[in-house]
Amino acid sequence: MTLTVAIDGPAAAGKGTISKAVAAHFGFAHLDTGLLYRAVGAKVIAGQSPIDAAQTLDPSDLEDDSLRTATVAQAASEVAVIPEVRAALVDFQRTFAARDGGAVLDGRDIGTVICPDADVKLFVTASAACRAERRYKELAGKGHDVTPAGVLADVQERDKRDSERAAAPMVAAEDATLIDTSDMSIEQAVAAAISAVGTARHN
Ligand code: CDP
Repeated sequence: MTLTVAIDGPAAAGKGTISKAVAAHFGFAHLDTGLLYRAVGAKVIAGQSPIDAAQTLDPSDLEDDSLRTATVAQAASEVAVIPEVRAALVDFQRTFAARDGGAVLDGRDIGTVICPDADVKLFVTASAACRAERRYKELAGKGHDVTPAGVLADVQERDKRDSERAAAPMVAAEDATLIDTSDMSIEQAVAAAISAVGTARHN
């Protein structure tokens, strides 16, 4: 059985938490595609050229905790505007999506560009203030040196760059189910996503 779930949305909307929970619930594999761009961004910070970094990316590059910083997030959104960088990452994502047993991919362009035929498409969003507050708590909780205002500025800057870029801009697919998590608990957001996937699975 192959079943692909595409979960897109802006920075810190809860895609990661929801994707992991959906994958665990249905026994699907999960790919956080943001990590691909973060890993390329981290290599660029280390001195490599973006296109070379994307073309030589190895799955083991994704298992680095330091990819979760705000600095790497910014670098990720800067390399993500480069068409050749995006092109170099397509095959890996599509192969993952087609794996036997079901797959959840979360990112910005999964339902529009990477898997336009995905069985389920969700667009998870929340107000910028909510998203920044959550991301601030997450990063501060891990001991990162961040301020609420700095995290809000980071989130807004990335949203702008991600939605205005020419190559695979962040936009909800026409057939995506919108989930606004601003006033939802994690449990409610996860339940909404599981219900959408469950419905598609039986169709
Ligand atoms: O976790 P968060 O939502 O803050 O970001 P992420 O999903 O790790 O993505 C980091 C950056 O990678 C985004 O700001 C995008 O610029 C880029 N990205 C993308 O362009 N396409 C994707 N499918 C996933 C991420």
